[in-house]
Amino acid sequence: MNPRISDWAGKRVWVIGASTGIGQACAHLLVDLGARVAFSARSIDKLLATTSGTPRALVAPLDVTDRDSVGAAGEKIVAEWGGIDLVLVVAGGYNEMRADSFDLAAANSMIDLNLRGVFNCLDVVLPVLLRQGAGGIGIVSSVAGYGGLPKALVYGPTKAALINLTESLYLDLHPKGIGVYQINPGFVETPLTAGNDFKMPALMKPEDAALEMVTGIEKGQFHIHFPKRFTNGLRFARLLPYRLYFWMIHKVTGL
Ligand SMILES: NC(=O)c1ccc[n+]([C@@H]2O[C@H](COP(=O)([O-])OP(=O)(O)OC[C@H]3O[C@@H](n4cnc5c(N)ncnc54)[C@H](OP(=O)(O)O)[C@@H]3O)[C@@H](O)[C@H]2O)c1
Repeated sequence: MNPRISDWAGKRVWVIGASTGIGQACAHLLVDLGARVAFSARSIDKLLATTSGTPRALVAPLDVTDRDSVGAAGEKIVAEWGGIDLVLVVAGGYNEMRADSFDLAAANSMIDLNLRGVFNCLDVVLPVLLRQGAGGIGIVSSVAGYGGLPKALVYGPTKAALINLTESLYLDLHPKGIGVYQINPGFVETPLTAGNDFKMPALMKPEDAALEMVTGIEKGQFHIHFPKRFTNGLRFARLLPYRLYFWMIHKVTGL
């Protein structure tokens, strides 16, 4: 559905959310494959530590909730490289929330990070990709965006919005020769999931998640989801009538 990528050598990849977890693993995998990689996140110390001794790495700190900082990072990268071949928007956060603990301030900051943050990135990146008429953008959503789940009262809707967003982006950008990748991980062992107090089914290492992402992009897939033994179960559940869907989610989660 997207152009295949057979060789990463010299490719210019901007990973937003590269200081820890899935983004960090992905950025390092791409460096290992020969790409030039810009590492972005808020924590400059973590970015400097993770890129220390890494060839072809560029550090471009930003806060996705601050459009100007994303713009400044984008300008720095384009000035350095002359263009961008792939942007991966990985930055995001999770907060556990249920209806009986609804917190409007926390809901708004989750929306600022997971949704408005992505729009801030689009505002900077789309003009570059459209001017080039080439390149691609991948956005990390989550299987939590497929359908309502307990404990994901705000996280889930932000990720559902990103799934919808990537579909619209694909329709608009594919005809212009620009790749769009919707990336939906299952559970990955990162700082984001470290606080979970339940057994996470099919938990993956970030390095394995990164490999799934990069392989999917190489193959030109639009919908990249992993691990399949977990994500396909949720995709199937989504097709069920609501009565069965709710029964199944209650049964599996105990919530
Ligand atoms: N782990 C999972 O099981 C899982 C499952 C499905 C989807 N996901 C999604 O995968 C993405 C990465 O998650 P992860 O598990 O790798 O979590 P993580 O280790 O906590 O990584 C999050 C990354 O986003 C950056 N970030 C957070 N707030 C930011 C901000 N305001 N501006 C710029 N960067 C910011 C963090 O760096 P700084 O703190 O330095 O800014 C970090 O690099 C998220 O979108 C998450 O929703 C994760």
